[in-house]
Amino acid sequence: MTEQTGAPVCDIDFYADSTIADPVSAYGKMLDAGPVVWLSQNRMYAICGHAELVASLRNHECFSSAKGVSVDDEINKFLIGSSLNSDPPAHDVSRSITFAPVSPKNLRHIKDRIEKEAEYVVEKLVQKGEFDAASDLAPYLPLTIVRDLVGLGPNGKDRMLEWGAATFELMGWPGDRRDKAIENLKQLRGFLDDPETLDNLSDEGWARRATKLGIEGGMEPARAAELMRDYIAPSLDTTISAIGYAIMLFSKNPEQWQRLRDDRDLVRNAIEEVVRLNTPIRAFTRYVTQDIEVAGTTLRQGNRVLMVYGAANRDPLRFPEPNRFDIERKTIGHVGFGQGVHACLGMNLARLEITSLLNALADRVQQFTLNGPVVSGVNSTIHSLASVPVKVSRVA
Ligand code: HEM
Repeated sequence: MTEQTGAPVCDIDFYADSTIADPVSAYGKMLDAGPVVWLSQNRMYAICGHAELVASLRNHECFSSAKGVSVDDEINKFLIGSSLNSDPPAHDVSRSITFAPVSPKNLRHIKDRIEKEAEYVVEKLVQKGEFDAASDLAPYLPLTIVRDLVGLGPNGKDRMLEWGAATFELMGWPGDRRDKAIENLKQLRGFLDDPETLDNLSDEGWARRATKLGIEGGMEPARAAELMRDYIAPSLDTTISAIGYAIMLFSKNPEQWQRLRDDRDLVRNAIEEVVRLNTPIRAFTRYVTQDIEVAGTTLRQGNRVLMVYGAANRDPLRFPEPNRFDIERKTIGHVGFGQGVHACLGMNLARLEITSLLNALADRVQQFTLNGPVVSGVNSTIHSLASVPVKVSRVA
């Protein structure tokens, strides 16, 4: 257990249901206390200042991921080995294998398919006049296209969303939700350990490609199976969260939707602004490998430190008026996709999906109007919305 050796104390419980439902006010309290704070209820240091977080994320020698990035070391045992839960040089070996299908060059091959599906789902929903952006719109592309491209085969495909959510749940302190998440994670472990899993992967899928390359490169089949984690855990929930949040932001800020419709070149930056404000992954941890001082606080070798992407993205020292949604602001340097060696592997895929949806919507929707209460999702790591009911007025 980490002991406090300095830093201002902040008494929010980062994993309380109330903080999960409204992380934004918690981020504000943490930043008011300082760039590095001691979370007395979670008994952990947290780095939340933007400059401090970026420097720490870029210093993977001191802030290691190799012992896992969950707050809970019991859970980390289940996770170690994926790109996310490793350090260079092992990290670079797995990442070089799993990155290829989601590189900008290879995404060109699936761009048309994604755009067509985006047109299809948007046209269908806009025709209805009202829909739920979180549950009807947001999951569509990740579940129809990405899940298919990963290609876990008949025993894995339908479980992918649950396994991903459980992995994210257990990265934090899941409280009452823990038992169910552990059960799911054990089933994922069973899937990865089952020798028949590799034989059943879809022939053209990313999972088949990665595991095959791993084995050809000398990995044991069990190690090669771990490569699939790069796609299983992070590729669905994160993007689903960002899409639902985007529509909530545009509903509440119709002038920003108008700006985007007037100038499609703004789509690219609008996505970064959505990911900055939403920050789908609230925080992961790092293990401190040697004593290091950050903003006047000495973090000790062996401490587990929370890296709070969501707070850093609202640090007023980096983003003036940080809580304002402005699709034209300078978003460069936001940490919604991480920074350093662990920066998001799939960010270009996520951007492609969201770009296709926003363009299809901008062709058809004049304005979004919230049509009922916005309801938060519940996951200890993912900041998401379970319901964003909207009415749309169609372009004449
Ligand atoms: C809006 C969508 C997404 C967001 C906001 C997001 C966010 C992030 C963040 C913050 C990290 C850094 C983790 C760290 O610092 O330890 C990360 C890493 C990662 N992401 Fe994403 N992600 C998104 C979509 C995706 C997709 C679609 C995929 C899969 C195809 C993916 C795969 C990964 C992987 C494998 C890593 C670990 C990379 C490494 O350790 O080298 N992500 N993501």
